[in-house]
Amino acid sequence: MHGDAVQLGDFFYLRGIMTEKILILDFGSQYTQLIARAVREANVYCEIIPFSKPVVFDPSLKGIILSGSPFSVNDANAPEVDIAALHSRLPVLGVCYGAQLTAKQFGGRVANSNKREYGRALLHKQKDSPILKDVTELSQVWMSHADTILDLPAEFEVLANTESIPFAAFRKNGTKGSGPASGSGATDGAAGNGKAAAADGPEQPLYCLQFHPEVYHSIEGKKIIRNFLVDVCGCKQDWTPAHFISDTVAALQKQIGERKVIMALSGGVDSTVAATLIHKAIGDRLSGIFVDNGVLRKDEFEQVLSTYKEIGLNVKGIDAKAMFYRELAGKSDPEAKRKTIGRLFIDVFQEEAKKVAGVELLGQGTIYPDVIESVSVHGPSVTIKSHHNVGGLPEKMHLELVEPLRYLFKDEVRRVGAELGIPDDLLQRHPFPGPGLAIRILGEVSEEKVRLLQEADYLYTKGLKDHNLYSSVWQAGAILLPVKSVGVMGDERTYEFTVALRAVTSVDGMTADWAHLPYTFLADISNEIINNVKGINRVVYDISSKPPATIEWE
Ligand code: XMP
Repeated sequence: MHGDAVQLGDFFYLRGIMTEKILILDFGSQYTQLIARAVREANVYCEIIPFSKPVVFDPSLKGIILSGSPFSVNDANAPEVDIAALHSRLPVLGVCYGAQLTAKQFGGRVANSNKREYGRALLHKQKDSPILKDVTELSQVWMSHADTILDLPAEFEVLANTESIPFAAFRKNGTKGSGPASGSGATDGAAGNGKAAAADGPEQPLYCLQFHPEVYHSIEGKKIIRNFLVDVCGCKQDWTPAHFISDTVAALQKQIGERKVIMALSGGVDSTVAATLIHKAIGDRLSGIFVDNGVLRKDEFEQVLSTYKEIGLNVKGIDAKAMFYRELAGKSDPEAKRKTIGRLFIDVFQEEAKKVAGVELLGQGTIYPDVIESVSVHGPSVTIKSHHNVGGLPEKMHLELVEPLRYLFKDEVRRVGAELGIPDDLLQRHPFPGPGLAIRILGEVSEEKVRLLQEADYLYTKGLKDHNLYSSVWQAGAILLPVKSVGVMGDERTYEFTVALRAVTSVDGMTADWAHLPYTFLADISNEIINNVKGINRVVYDISSKPPATIEWE
Protein backbone atom coordinates (compact mmCIF):
# COMPACT_ATOMS: atom_id res chain seq x y z
CA MET A 1 0.00 0.00 0.00
CA HIS A 2 1.24 3.47 -0.74
CA GLY A 3 1.62 5.77 2.18
CA ASP A 4 0.12 8.94 0.73
CA ALA A 5 -3.02 10.13 2.37
CA VAL A 6 -6.40 9.79 0.74
CA GLN A 7 -8.28 12.85 1.84
CA LEU A 8 -12.03 12.96 1.81
CA GLY A 9 -12.87 12.75 -1.84
CA ASP A 10 -10.47 15.56 -2.60
CA PHE A 11 -10.56 14.63 -6.26
CA PHE A 12 -14.14 15.89 -6.40
CA TYR A 13 -14.34 18.10 -3.36
CA LEU A 14 -11.40 20.32 -4.25
CA ARG A 15 -12.93 20.87 -7.65
CA GLY A 16 -16.20 21.99 -6.17
CA ILE A 17 -18.09 18.82 -7.06
CA MET A 18 -19.98 17.56 -4.06
CA THR A 19 -20.68 13.90 -3.74
CA GLU A 20 -22.56 12.61 -0.70
CA LYS A 21 -20.28 10.51 1.36
CA ILE A 22 -20.03 8.06 4.23
CA LEU A 23 -16.81 7.69 6.17
CA ILE A 24 -15.60 4.33 7.47
CA LEU A 25 -13.17 4.56 10.37
CA ASP A 26 -10.88 1.56 10.15
CA PHE A 27 -9.77 -0.19 13.33
CA GLY A 28 -7.86 -2.82 11.35
CA SER A 29 -10.53 -5.42 10.60
CA GLN A 30 -9.98 -7.79 7.71
CA TYR A 31 -13.56 -6.92 6.67
CA THR A 32 -13.24 -3.12 6.46
CA GLN A 33 -13.01 -3.11 2.66
CA LEU A 34 -16.11 -5.29 2.51
CA ILE A 35 -18.05 -2.60 4.39
CA ALA A 36 -16.89 -0.05 1.83
CA ARG A 37 -17.87 -2.29 -1.04
CA ALA A 38 -21.31 -2.93 0.44
CA VAL A 39 -21.86 0.84 0.82
CA ARG A 40 -20.74 1.46 -2.76
CA GLU A 41 -22.97 -1.36 -3.97
CA ALA A 42 -25.88 0.54 -2.44
CA ASN A 43 -24.81 3.40 -4.74
CA VAL A 44 -23.50 5.56 -1.93
CA TYR A 45 -19.97 6.93 -2.10
CA CYS A 46 -17.72 6.16 0.88
CA GLU A 47 -14.12 6.30 1.97
CA ILE A 48 -12.02 4.40 4.47
CA ILE A 49 -9.68 6.30 6.79
CA PRO A 50 -7.55 5.01 9.67
CA PHE A 51 -9.28 5.58 13.04
CA SER A 52 -6.41 7.86 14.06
CA LYS A 53 -7.04 10.42 11.31
CA PRO A 54 -9.10 13.52 12.02
CA VAL A 55 -12.59 13.48 10.55
CA VAL A 56 -13.25 16.46 8.32
CA PHE A 57 -16.90 17.44 8.74
CA ASP A 58 -17.55 18.84 5.30
CA PRO A 59 -21.16 19.25 4.23
CA SER A 60 -21.14 16.19 2.00
CA LEU A 61 -20.47 13.86 4.94
CA LYS A 62 -23.68 12.02 5.84
CA GLY A 63 -22.64 9.39 8.37
CA ILE A 64 -19.84 7.39 9.94
CA ILE A 65 -19.31 3.64 10.23
CA LEU A 66 -16.94 2.22 12.85
CA SER A 67 -15.31 -0.99 11.63
CA GLY A 68 -14.37 -4.20 13.40
CA SER A 69 -10.88 -4.88 14.72
CA PRO A 70 -8.59 -7.71 15.76
CA PHE A 71 -8.12 -5.87 19.08
CA SER A 72 -10.11 -6.27 22.28
CA VAL A 73 -11.55 -3.00 23.60
CA ASN A 74 -9.85 -3.89 26.89
CA ASP A 75 -6.34 -4.14 25.38
CA ALA A 76 -3.94 -1.54 26.69
CA ASN A 77 -3.23 -0.36 23.12
CA ALA A 78 -6.81 -0.73 21.84
CA PRO A 79 -7.58 1.78 19.07
CA GLU A 80 -10.05 4.44 20.25
CA VAL A 81 -12.05 7.37 18.93
CA ASP A 82 -14.41 9.63 20.84
CA ILE A 83 -17.72 8.20 19.67
CA ALA A 84 -19.84 10.72 21.61
CA ALA A 85 -18.08 13.53 19.75
CA LEU A 86 -18.74 11.92 16.37
CA HIS A 87 -22.37 11.10 17.08
CA SER A 88 -23.04 14.59 18.38
CA ARG A 89 -22.71 15.69 14.76
CA LEU A 90 -23.55 12.74 12.51
CA PRO A 91 -25.34 9.38 12.47
CA VAL A 92 -22.94 6.60 13.52
CA LEU A 93 -23.04 2.83 13.02
CA GLY A 94 -20.70 0.65 15.09
CA VAL A 95 -19.93 -2.79 13.69
CA CYS A 96 -18.52 -5.54 15.95
CA TYR A 97 -15.52 -3.82 17.61
CA GLY A 98 -17.21 -0.51 16.79
CA ALA A 99 -20.29 -1.72 18.72
CA GLN A 100 -18.21 -2.96 21.66
CA LEU A 101 -16.25 0.28 21.84
CA THR A 102 -19.52 2.22 21.86
CA ALA A 103 -20.88 0.06 24.68
CA LYS A 104 -17.69 0.52 26.68
CA GLN A 105 -17.38 4.28 26.16
CA PHE A 106 -20.97 4.94 27.22
CA GLY A 107 -20.58 2.97 30.45
CA GLY A 108 -21.48 -0.61 29.49
CA ARG A 109 -19.39 -3.68 30.30
CA VAL A 110 -17.41 -5.64 27.69
CA ALA A 111 -15.39 -8.68 28.71
CA ASN A 112 -13.78 -11.78 27.37
CA SER A 113 -16.37 -14.29 28.49
CA ASN A 114 -17.17 -17.85 27.59
CA LYS A 115 -19.90 -16.53 25.32
CA ARG A 116 -17.45 -16.22 22.42
CA GLU A 117 -19.37 -16.49 19.16
CA TYR A 118 -17.99 -17.33 15.76
CA GLY A 119 -19.94 -18.21 12.62
CA ARG A 120 -23.62 -18.21 11.77
CA ALA A 121 -26.30 -17.02 14.21
CA LEU A 122 -30.00 -16.20 13.88
CA LEU A 123 -31.25 -12.72 14.65
CA HIS A 124 -34.33 -12.43 16.85
CA LYS A 125 -35.84 -8.96 16.62
CA GLN A 126 -37.10 -7.44 19.86
CA LYS A 127 -38.17 -4.05 18.60
CA ASP A 128 -38.96 -2.32 15.33
CA SER A 129 -36.26 0.04 14.21
CA PRO A 130 -35.20 1.70 10.95
CA ILE A 131 -31.94 -0.23 10.89
CA LEU A 132 -33.70 -3.62 10.89
CA LYS A 133 -36.57 -2.53 8.65
CA ASP A 134 -37.82 -5.41 6.45
CA VAL A 135 -35.29 -7.83 7.96
CA THR A 136 -36.99 -11.19 8.41
CA GLU A 137 -37.29 -12.78 11.84
CA LEU A 138 -34.43 -15.24 12.49
CA SER A 139 -32.38 -13.89 9.62
CA GLN A 140 -28.91 -15.45 9.45
CA VAL A 141 -26.01 -13.17 10.45
CA TRP A 142 -22.26 -13.73 10.77
CA MET A 143 -20.59 -13.38 14.13
CA SER A 144 -16.87 -13.17 14.76
CA HIS A 145 -15.99 -11.91 18.23
CA ALA A 146 -14.16 -13.09 21.31
CA ASP A 147 -15.31 -10.27 23.62
CA THR A 148 -18.93 -10.03 24.62
CA ILE A 149 -21.02 -7.08 25.75
CA LEU A 150 -22.23 -8.13 29.21
CA ASP A 151 -24.15 -4.95 30.11
CA LEU A 152 -25.51 -2.26 27.82
CA PRO A 153 -24.98 1.34 28.92
CA ALA A 154 -27.95 2.82 30.80
CA GLU A 155 -29.33 4.98 28.01
CA PHE A 156 -29.22 2.24 25.33
CA GLU A 157 -31.97 -0.12 24.16
CA VAL A 158 -31.63 -3.57 22.66
CA LEU A 159 -33.09 -4.15 19.17
CA ALA A 160 -32.21 -7.81 18.56
CA ASN A 161 -30.51 -10.77 20.18
CA THR A 162 -29.28 -14.22 19.09
CA GLU A 163 -29.47 -17.51 20.93
CA SER A 164 -26.04 -16.92 22.46
CA ILE A 165 -25.88 -13.18 23.02
CA PRO A 166 -28.46 -10.73 24.37
CA PHE A 167 -27.20 -7.62 22.53
CA ALA A 168 -26.80 -8.39 18.82
CA ALA A 169 -28.23 -5.01 17.70
CA PHE A 170 -28.83 -1.96 19.89
CA ARG A 171 -29.06 1.81 19.80
CA LYS A 172 -28.79 4.81 22.01
CA ASN A 173 -32.17 5.88 23.42
CA GLY A 174 -33.61 9.07 22.10
CA THR A 175 -31.60 8.92 18.93
CA LYS A 176 -33.75 9.93 16.05
CA GLY A 177 -35.73 7.02 14.71
CA SER A 178 -35.62 7.66 11.03
CA GLY A 179 -35.14 10.15 8.27
CA PRO A 180 -32.09 12.17 7.49
CA ALA A 181 -30.48 13.72 10.50
CA SER A 182 -31.07 17.44 10.35
CA GLY A 183 -27.93 19.44 10.14
CA SER A 184 -25.78 16.36 9.77
CA GLY A 185 -22.29 17.39 8.91
CA ALA A 186 -23.52 20.84 8.11
CA THR A 187 -20.67 22.56 9.87
CA ASP A 188 -17.30 22.77 8.23
CA GLY A 189 -14.10 22.11 10.09
CA ALA A 190 -11.88 19.29 11.20
CA ALA A 191 -11.89 17.65 14.58
CA GLY A 192 -9.38 15.23 15.97
CA ASN A 193 -11.34 12.06 16.53
CA GLY A 194 -10.78 12.36 20.22
CA LYS A 195 -11.54 16.05 20.36
CA ALA A 196 -14.59 16.82 18.27
CA ALA A 197 -16.74 19.81 19.05
CA ALA A 198 -19.45 19.38 21.67
CA ALA A 199 -23.00 18.49 20.70
CA ASP A 200 -24.75 21.29 18.88
CA GLY A 201 -28.36 20.37 18.41
CA PRO A 202 -30.48 17.22 18.68
CA GLU A 203 -28.64 13.95 19.11
CA GLN A 204 -27.87 12.02 15.98
CA PRO A 205 -28.73 8.32 15.63
CA LEU A 206 -26.21 5.88 17.10
CA TYR A 207 -26.71 2.25 16.07
CA CYS A 208 -24.61 -0.79 16.90
CA LEU A 209 -24.38 -4.29 15.43
CA GLN A 210 -22.40 -7.04 17.12
CA PHE A 211 -22.45 -9.10 13.89
CA HIS A 212 -20.84 -8.33 10.53
CA PRO A 213 -23.55 -7.17 8.06
CA GLU A 214 -20.86 -6.71 5.38
CA VAL A 215 -19.95 -10.37 4.98
CA TYR A 216 -21.63 -12.66 2.53
CA HIS A 217 -22.95 -15.02 5.24
CA SER A 218 -25.10 -12.27 6.76
CA ILE A 219 -27.95 -12.99 4.38
CA GLU A 220 -29.75 -9.65 4.81
CA GLY A 221 -26.63 -7.68 5.72
CA LYS A 222 -26.74 -5.56 2.59
CA LYS A 223 -30.32 -4.58 3.44
CA ILE A 224 -29.23 -3.53 6.95
CA ILE A 225 -26.41 -1.41 5.54
CA ARG A 226 -28.82 0.12 3.04
CA ASN A 227 -31.23 0.89 5.89
CA PHE A 228 -28.47 2.76 7.71
CA LEU A 229 -27.49 4.67 4.59
CA VAL A 230 -30.95 5.59 3.39
CA ASP A 231 -33.32 5.53 6.36
CA VAL A 232 -30.88 6.71 9.01
CA CYS A 233 -28.43 8.93 7.12
CA GLY A 234 -30.80 10.04 4.35
CA CYS A 235 -28.42 9.20 1.50
CA LYS A 236 -29.85 9.54 -1.99
CA GLN A 237 -28.15 6.46 -3.53
CA ASP A 238 -27.09 8.35 -6.62
CA TRP A 239 -23.49 7.13 -6.79
CA THR A 240 -23.99 5.27 -10.06
CA PRO A 241 -21.51 4.64 -12.88
CA ALA A 242 -23.27 7.30 -14.97
CA HIS A 243 -23.06 9.81 -12.11
CA PHE A 244 -19.41 8.92 -11.52
CA ILE A 245 -18.61 9.43 -15.20
CA SER A 246 -20.23 12.85 -15.46
CA ASP A 247 -18.67 14.04 -12.15
CA THR A 248 -15.28 12.69 -13.12
CA VAL A 249 -15.27 14.19 -16.58
CA ALA A 250 -16.16 17.58 -15.09
CA ALA A 251 -13.47 17.21 -12.41
CA LEU A 252 -10.87 16.16 -14.99
CA GLN A 253 -11.68 19.14 -17.17
CA LYS A 254 -11.14 21.42 -14.17
CA GLN A 255 -7.89 19.74 -13.20
CA ILE A 256 -6.40 19.54 -16.67
CA GLY A 257 -7.67 22.75 -18.23
CA GLU A 258 -6.03 23.26 -21.62
CA ARG A 259 -2.96 21.15 -20.77
CA LYS A 260 -1.81 17.84 -22.26
CA VAL A 261 -1.73 14.41 -20.61
CA ILE A 262 0.46 11.44 -21.42
CA MET A 263 -0.28 7.93 -20.26
CA ALA A 264 1.08 4.40 -20.50
CA LEU A 265 -1.58 1.85 -21.42
CA SER A 266 -1.21 -1.86 -20.77
CA GLY A 267 -4.28 -3.37 -22.40
CA GLY A 268 -5.64 -4.03 -18.91
CA VAL A 269 -8.95 -2.91 -17.45
CA ASP A 270 -7.72 -0.09 -15.19
CA SER A 271 -5.51 1.79 -17.64
CA THR A 272 -8.09 1.44 -20.42
CA VAL A 273 -10.98 2.76 -18.32
CA ALA A 274 -8.83 5.59 -16.90
CA ALA A 275 -7.68 6.60 -20.39
CA THR A 276 -11.23 6.48 -21.75
CA LEU A 277 -12.42 8.84 -19.01
CA ILE A 278 -9.54 11.25 -19.62
CA HIS A 279 -10.19 11.07 -23.35
CA LYS A 280 -13.85 11.86 -22.76
CA ALA A 281 -12.75 14.96 -20.83
CA ILE A 282 -9.98 16.30 -23.10
CA GLY A 283 -10.08 14.31 -26.36
CA ASP A 284 -6.83 13.92 -28.22
CA ARG A 285 -4.90 16.09 -25.81
CA LEU A 286 -4.41 12.70 -24.18
CA SER A 287 -1.55 10.76 -25.79
CA GLY A 288 -1.42 7.08 -24.93
CA ILE A 289 1.59 4.83 -25.33
CA PHE A 290 1.40 1.04 -25.50
CA VAL A 291 4.74 -0.76 -25.48
CA ASP A 292 5.32 -4.23 -26.91
CA ASN A 293 7.89 -5.53 -24.44
CA GLY A 294 8.10 -8.91 -26.17
CA VAL A 295 6.45 -10.73 -23.27
CA LEU A 296 2.82 -9.99 -24.07
CA ARG A 297 0.33 -12.73 -24.90
CA LYS A 298 0.01 -14.07 -28.43
CA ASP A 299 -1.28 -11.35 -30.82
CA GLU A 300 -2.03 -9.10 -27.84
CA PHE A 301 -0.20 -6.05 -29.19
CA GLU A 302 -2.19 -5.92 -32.43
CA GLN A 303 -5.51 -6.82 -30.81
CA VAL A 304 -5.26 -4.27 -28.01
CA LEU A 305 -4.21 -1.51 -30.40
CA SER A 306 -7.18 -2.26 -32.59
CA THR A 307 -9.54 -2.14 -29.57
CA TYR A 308 -8.09 1.24 -28.60
CA LYS A 309 -8.77 2.45 -32.12
CA GLU A 310 -12.34 1.20 -31.86
CA ILE A 311 -12.85 3.12 -28.60
CA GLY A 312 -11.36 6.20 -30.25
CA LEU A 313 -8.28 6.51 -28.05
CA ASN A 314 -5.20 8.24 -29.39
CA VAL A 315 -2.62 5.52 -28.61
CA LYS A 316 0.76 4.95 -30.20
CA GLY A 317 2.10 1.39 -30.26
CA ILE A 318 5.86 1.01 -29.79
CA ASP A 319 7.53 -2.23 -30.81
CA ALA A 320 10.47 -2.52 -28.39
CA LYS A 321 10.64 -6.34 -28.40
CA ALA A 322 14.23 -6.61 -29.63
CA MET A 323 15.60 -4.35 -26.92
CA PHE A 324 13.76 -6.22 -24.16
CA TYR A 325 15.01 -9.62 -25.41
CA ARG A 326 18.54 -8.29 -25.65
CA GLU A 327 18.53 -6.94 -22.10
CA LEU A 328 16.79 -9.98 -20.63
CA ALA A 329 19.35 -12.38 -22.07
CA GLY A 330 21.45 -14.00 -19.37
CA LYS A 331 19.12 -12.92 -16.52
CA SER A 332 17.41 -15.71 -14.60
CA ASP A 333 16.71 -14.15 -11.19
CA PRO A 334 13.01 -13.12 -10.98
CA GLU A 335 13.69 -9.76 -9.35
CA ALA A 336 16.45 -8.97 -11.87
CA LYS A 337 13.99 -9.75 -14.70
CA ARG A 338 11.31 -7.54 -13.13
CA LYS A 339 13.74 -4.67 -12.57
CA THR A 340 15.07 -4.91 -16.13
CA ILE A 341 11.58 -4.79 -17.61
CA GLY A 342 10.57 -1.91 -15.34
CA ARG A 343 13.69 0.09 -16.19
CA LEU A 344 13.43 -0.46 -19.96
CA PHE A 345 9.77 0.40 -19.89
CA ILE A 346 10.50 3.73 -18.20
CA ASP A 347 13.27 4.44 -20.74
CA VAL A 348 11.00 3.74 -23.71
CA PHE A 349 8.15 5.73 -22.20
CA GLN A 350 10.34 8.75 -21.42
CA GLU A 351 11.77 8.70 -24.92
CA GLU A 352 8.27 8.75 -26.40
CA ALA A 353 6.99 11.32 -23.93
CA LYS A 354 9.69 13.74 -25.10
CA LYS A 355 8.11 13.65 -28.54
CA VAL A 356 4.82 15.07 -27.22
CA ALA A 357 5.50 18.79 -26.94
CA GLY A 358 4.41 20.60 -23.78
CA VAL A 359 3.00 17.65 -21.87
CA GLU A 360 2.46 18.46 -18.18
CA LEU A 361 0.40 15.64 -16.74
CA LEU A 362 0.72 11.88 -16.37
CA GLY A 363 -2.41 9.70 -16.44
CA GLN A 364 -2.48 6.59 -14.25
CA GLY A 365 -4.95 3.78 -13.65
CA THR A 366 -4.38 3.66 -9.87
CA ILE A 367 -7.40 2.15 -8.07
CA TYR A 368 -8.65 2.41 -4.49
CA PRO A 369 -7.15 -0.78 -2.98
CA ASP A 370 -3.70 0.60 -3.99
CA VAL A 371 -4.14 3.77 -1.96
CA ILE A 372 -6.25 2.90 1.08
CA GLU A 373 -4.07 3.51 4.07
CA SER A 374 -4.29 0.26 5.95
CA VAL A 375 -4.21 0.16 9.74
CA SER A 376 -1.17 -1.92 10.48
CA VAL A 377 -1.94 -4.48 13.15
CA HIS A 378 1.00 -6.81 12.65
CA GLY A 379 3.74 -4.28 11.92
CA PRO A 380 5.00 -3.16 8.52
CA SER A 381 4.48 -5.73 5.79
CA VAL A 382 7.44 -7.25 3.98
CA THR A 383 7.86 -7.08 0.23
CA ILE A 384 7.40 -10.56 -1.20
CA LYS A 385 7.65 -9.50 -4.84
CA SER A 386 8.26 -6.03 -6.22
CA HIS A 387 4.96 -5.87 -8.09
CA HIS A 388 4.72 -2.32 -9.14
CA ASN A 389 7.09 -2.63 -12.01
CA VAL A 390 6.28 0.80 -13.41
CA GLY A 391 5.93 2.35 -9.98
CA GLY A 392 8.96 4.55 -10.60
CA LEU A 393 7.30 6.40 -13.46
CA PRO A 394 5.73 9.35 -11.59
CA GLU A 395 8.93 10.18 -9.67
CA LYS A 396 11.07 10.00 -12.81
CA MET A 397 8.77 12.09 -14.92
CA HIS A 398 8.11 15.04 -12.57
CA LEU A 399 4.62 15.37 -14.00
CA GLU A 400 1.38 16.11 -12.19
CA LEU A 401 -0.68 12.94 -11.73
CA VAL A 402 -4.17 12.41 -13.13
CA GLU A 403 -5.81 9.40 -11.46
CA PRO A 404 -9.53 9.25 -12.22
CA LEU A 405 -10.02 5.78 -10.69
CA ARG A 406 -8.27 6.53 -7.42
CA TYR A 407 -11.47 6.01 -5.43
CA LEU A 408 -12.90 2.95 -7.22
CA PHE A 409 -12.83 -0.73 -6.44
CA LYS A 410 -12.10 -3.13 -9.29
CA ASP A 411 -15.74 -4.19 -9.77
CA GLU A 412 -16.72 -0.51 -9.97
CA VAL A 413 -14.03 0.10 -12.60
CA ARG A 414 -15.61 -2.67 -14.68
CA ARG A 415 -19.09 -1.18 -14.27
CA VAL A 416 -17.84 2.26 -15.29
CA GLY A 417 -16.04 0.66 -18.24
CA ALA A 418 -19.26 -1.01 -19.38
CA GLU A 419 -21.13 2.29 -19.10
CA LEU A 420 -18.39 3.90 -21.23
CA GLY A 421 -18.98 1.28 -23.93
CA ILE A 422 -15.64 -0.53 -23.58
CA PRO A 423 -15.96 -4.03 -25.07
CA ASP A 424 -16.72 -6.79 -22.57
CA ASP A 425 -13.83 -8.83 -23.86
CA LEU A 426 -11.39 -6.28 -22.53
CA LEU A 427 -13.30 -5.52 -19.31
CA GLN A 428 -13.53 -9.14 -18.24
CA ARG A 429 -9.89 -9.96 -18.91
CA HIS A 430 -7.99 -11.75 -16.17
CA PRO A 431 -5.29 -9.71 -14.42
CA PHE A 432 -1.97 -9.98 -16.23
CA PRO A 433 1.32 -8.98 -14.56
CA GLY A 434 3.33 -6.03 -15.88
CA PRO A 435 6.42 -8.20 -16.52
CA GLY A 436 4.10 -10.48 -18.50
CA LEU A 437 5.26 -13.88 -19.66
CA ALA A 438 8.80 -13.11 -18.44
CA ILE A 439 7.78 -14.19 -14.92
CA ARG A 440 5.97 -17.23 -16.31
CA ILE A 441 9.12 -18.46 -18.04
CA LEU A 442 11.13 -19.75 -15.11
CA GLY A 443 14.77 -18.83 -15.44
CA GLU A 444 16.21 -17.12 -18.50
CA VAL A 445 13.84 -15.65 -21.10
CA SER A 446 14.43 -16.09 -24.83
CA GLU A 447 12.38 -15.23 -27.88
CA GLU A 448 11.93 -18.92 -28.64
CA LYS A 449 10.66 -19.70 -25.13
CA VAL A 450 8.26 -16.76 -25.35
CA ARG A 451 6.90 -18.15 -28.60
CA LEU A 452 6.35 -21.60 -27.05
CA LEU A 453 4.61 -20.18 -24.01
CA GLN A 454 2.47 -17.79 -26.09
CA GLU A 455 1.14 -20.77 -28.05
CA ALA A 456 0.42 -22.86 -24.93
CA ASP A 457 -1.16 -19.88 -23.14
CA TYR A 458 -3.29 -19.09 -26.19
CA LEU A 459 -4.69 -22.64 -26.35
CA TYR A 460 -5.32 -22.69 -22.59
CA THR A 461 -7.14 -19.32 -22.57
CA LYS A 462 -9.16 -20.19 -25.67
CA GLY A 463 -10.10 -23.53 -24.07
CA LEU A 464 -11.29 -21.80 -20.90
CA LYS A 465 -13.44 -19.44 -22.97
CA ASP A 466 -14.82 -22.21 -25.21
CA HIS A 467 -15.78 -24.28 -22.16
CA ASN A 468 -17.38 -21.28 -20.39
CA LEU A 469 -14.84 -21.52 -17.59
CA TYR A 470 -12.99 -18.25 -18.17
CA SER A 471 -15.25 -16.02 -16.06
CA SER A 472 -15.49 -18.48 -13.17
CA VAL A 473 -11.73 -18.27 -12.72
CA TRP A 474 -10.09 -15.14 -11.25
CA GLN A 475 -6.82 -15.58 -13.11
CA ALA A 476 -5.29 -18.28 -15.30
CA GLY A 477 -2.07 -18.73 -17.19
CA ALA A 478 0.50 -21.21 -18.39
CA ILE A 479 4.01 -21.41 -16.96
CA LEU A 480 7.01 -22.72 -18.90
CA LEU A 481 9.18 -24.80 -16.60
CA PRO A 482 12.94 -25.02 -17.08
CA VAL A 483 12.61 -28.80 -17.15
CA LYS A 484 12.91 -31.09 -20.15
CA SER A 485 11.60 -34.61 -19.90
CA VAL A 486 11.34 -37.66 -22.10
CA GLY A 487 8.21 -38.43 -24.06
CA VAL A 488 7.16 -40.51 -26.99
CA MET A 489 5.29 -39.29 -30.06
CA GLY A 490 4.49 -41.89 -32.71
CA ASP A 491 7.62 -43.98 -32.85
CA GLU A 492 9.86 -41.14 -31.86
CA ARG A 493 11.43 -40.36 -28.52
CA THR A 494 11.05 -36.67 -27.56
CA TYR A 495 12.93 -34.60 -25.04
CA GLU A 496 11.03 -31.37 -24.56
CA PHE A 497 9.75 -28.73 -22.13
CA THR A 498 6.97 -29.05 -19.52
CA VAL A 499 4.17 -26.53 -19.12
CA ALA A 500 2.31 -26.03 -15.85
CA LEU A 501 -1.26 -24.74 -16.02
CA ARG A 502 -2.38 -22.40 -13.23
CA ALA A 503 -5.94 -21.27 -12.54
CA VAL A 504 -7.11 -19.71 -9.29
CA THR A 505 -10.28 -18.42 -7.70
CA SER A 506 -9.85 -15.28 -5.60
CA VAL A 507 -11.47 -11.98 -4.67
CA ASP A 508 -8.48 -9.68 -4.80
CA GLY A 509 -5.39 -11.79 -5.48
CA MET A 510 -4.24 -11.49 -1.86
CA THR A 511 -5.34 -15.05 -1.12
CA ALA A 512 -6.34 -17.62 -3.73
CA ASP A 513 -7.47 -21.19 -4.07
CA TRP A 514 -6.55 -23.37 -7.02
CA ALA A 515 -9.54 -23.69 -9.33
CA HIS A 516 -11.13 -27.13 -9.43
CA LEU A 517 -11.32 -27.30 -13.23
CA PRO A 518 -13.06 -30.38 -14.61
CA TYR A 519 -10.76 -33.33 -15.41
CA THR A 520 -12.28 -33.62 -18.88
CA PHE A 521 -11.31 -30.03 -19.63
CA LEU A 522 -7.76 -30.55 -18.33
CA ALA A 523 -7.46 -33.70 -20.43
CA ASP A 524 -8.60 -31.84 -23.58
CA ILE A 525 -6.21 -28.94 -23.02
CA SER A 526 -3.27 -31.22 -22.31
CA ASN A 527 -3.87 -32.98 -25.64
CA GLU A 528 -4.36 -29.68 -27.46
CA ILE A 529 -1.09 -28.24 -26.18
CA ILE A 530 1.05 -31.35 -26.68
CA ASN A 531 -0.35 -32.04 -30.14
CA ASN A 532 -0.03 -28.46 -31.37
CA VAL A 533 2.98 -26.91 -29.67
CA LYS A 534 6.17 -28.51 -30.87
CA GLY A 535 8.68 -28.26 -28.03
CA ILE A 536 6.26 -29.14 -25.22
CA ASN A 537 5.62 -32.81 -24.42
CA ARG A 538 4.23 -32.67 -20.87
CA VAL A 539 1.47 -30.66 -19.15
CA VAL A 540 0.88 -30.54 -15.38
CA TYR A 541 -1.74 -28.73 -13.28
CA ASP A 542 -0.80 -26.60 -10.28
CA ILE A 543 -2.85 -27.52 -7.18
CA SER A 544 -1.29 -25.08 -4.70
CA SER A 545 -3.21 -22.37 -2.90
CA LYS A 546 -1.99 -18.92 -1.87
CA PRO A 547 -0.68 -18.85 0.80
CA PRO A 548 1.66 -20.67 1.04
CA ALA A 549 2.26 -20.59 -2.74
CA THR A 550 1.79 -17.42 -4.80
CA ILE A 551 -0.26 -17.05 -7.98
CA GLU A 552 2.71 -16.45 -10.27
CA TRP A 553 5.58 -18.90 -10.02
CA GLU A 554 8.21 -16.16 -9.90
P1 XMP B 1 1.32 -13.29 -6.63
O1 XMP B 1 2.20 -14.05 -7.57
O2 XMP B 1 2.08 -12.35 -5.75
O3 XMP B 1 0.40 -12.39 -7.56
O4 XMP B 1 0.41 -14.18 -5.84
C1 XMP B 1 -0.71 -11.66 -7.12
C2 XMP B 1 -1.23 -10.86 -8.29
O5 XMP B 1 -0.24 -9.91 -8.70
C3 XMP B 1 0.16 -10.13 -10.05
N1 XMP B 1 1.60 -9.91 -10.14
C4 XMP B 1 2.16 -8.84 -10.70
N2 XMP B 1 1.60 -7.75 -11.30
N3 XMP B 1 3.77 -6.89 -11.72
C5 XMP B 1 2.43 -6.79 -11.81
O6 XMP B 1 1.95 -5.81 -12.40
C6 XMP B 1 4.39 -7.93 -11.13
O7 XMP B 1 5.62 -7.98 -11.05
C7 XMP B 1 3.54 -8.96 -10.59
N4 XMP B 1 3.78 -10.13 -9.94
C8 XMP B 1 2.58 -10.70 -9.69
C9 XMP B 1 -0.23 -11.57 -10.33
O8 XMP B 1 -0.40 -11.79 -11.73
C10 XMP B 1 -1.50 -11.70 -9.53
O9 XMP B 1 -2.60 -11.13 -10.22
